[in-house]
Amino acid sequence: MSTSKDLEGRHLVLGLSGGIACYKSAELVRELVRHGATVQVVMTDAAQQFITPVTMQALSGRPVFTSQWDARAGSNMAHIDLSRQADAILVAPASADFIAQLAQGRAGELLSLLCLARPRERCPLWVAPAMNREMWSHPATQRNVAQIVADGATLMGPGNGEQACGEVGDGRMLEAKQLRDRVIAQFQPQVLAGRRVLVTAGPTFEALDPVRGITNLSSGKMGFAIARAAAEAGAQVTLVAGPVHQATPWGVKRIDVQSALDMQAAVMPMAREHDVFVATAAVADWRPLAAANQKIKKEGSGTAPQWAMTENPDILAEVARLPQAQRPYCVGFAAESQDVARLAREKRLRKGIPMIVANHGPSTFGQDDNALLVVEDGQDTELPRASKLQLARSLVQLVATRLKH
Ligand code: C5P
Repeated sequence: MSTSKDLEGRHLVLGLSGGIACYKSAELVRELVRHGATVQVVMTDAAQQFITPVTMQALSGRPVFTSQWDARAGSNMAHIDLSRQADAILVAPASADFIAQLAQGRAGELLSLLCLARPRERCPLWVAPAMNREMWSHPATQRNVAQIVADGATLMGPGNGEQACGEVGDGRMLEAKQLRDRVIAQFQPQVLAGRRVLVTAGPTFEALDPVRGITNLSSGKMGFAIARAAAEAGAQVTLVAGPVHQATPWGVKRIDVQSALDMQAAVMPMAREHDVFVATAAVADWRPLAAANQKIKKEGSGTAPQWAMTENPDILAEVARLPQAQRPYCVGFAAESQDVARLAREKRLRKGIPMIVANHGPSTFGQDDNALLVVEDGQDTELPRASKLQLARSLVQLVATRLKH
């Protein structure tokens, strides 16, 4: 899979303060560079006890800055030059001590100095805490964290889990890929800020007996990409997912379901609390009227089993039938194998929805990229072949322009 250059043209200062999580920063710098960013690494003295500038220089392709007296900066003012060139400063790991320095506006080392000297209105400060759980939960740390957030910093994490000291709890630095995705998200336009978006994704699984069932080849990739793109755009996102193997995007509330009836039961009570409903799930059209309670045995039966089938509820159409004041803006998906545009137009009208997104089913299931045709009343918009995440971002932008204020 080719790497998306989501950070092309972005210049980041990556600051390391002292903590065992410095080892993750080596992978982080690689991830940021792989996605197109240029990265200037700055390390405190304490950080250099954990990882060497040599490693960080090799991975970032730039000499590392460690001192405010470094004469390499043109003006001999590294703190000014470095922060003026940056689109953002990410401190990862941010130790308890470093956060305390930020909270107090201290400037005793190059990294704290350049955080203080940055032009705040155009160079955001992102902070990825990393420390022992007792240090994290200490009132002094919590006070300092609240202070730096009030001063405009954005927290990334911390995560939860096993710590280097052997204890378990809050305080771990987020993993490199999680931080990379948070950084990418920060650069997306916040077109859905304050909106709530509900997404269905994946197939459904209609049980025949406790170990067998009817399902389909939907991977959930498109729906998960839409959930991610909506969250990146600032929305509060709920994702109702059938059985899929996809990681939950950051900031998304996920509800796992199996059958179409489960999906309906999850979606319907929530639908009216959302501003947008995007139905990407490949819901099974039919289900067995009754699933067997025990595994159906082949031995001795002599004949193949038969199932009476019944139709599943159309979740999207049901949401679209809510009274107008309670109805979210509904977006459907249509996966067709032929005559895509015409069938999508008909489906849009049949479902009573303002927007349907058509694609060629057999060539999209399980793939990482796709091409879409967005069908609305009186206009079609083509979204040419791209990664599902790029398409999801374009779709989110389009939907945002259709919402009433
Ligand atoms: O009717 P058809 O399955 O072709 O329509 C596809 C669209 O309707 C998709 O947006 C899908 O998520 C939604 N749908 C649904 N409930 C169903 C069937 C489809 O929400 N039972």
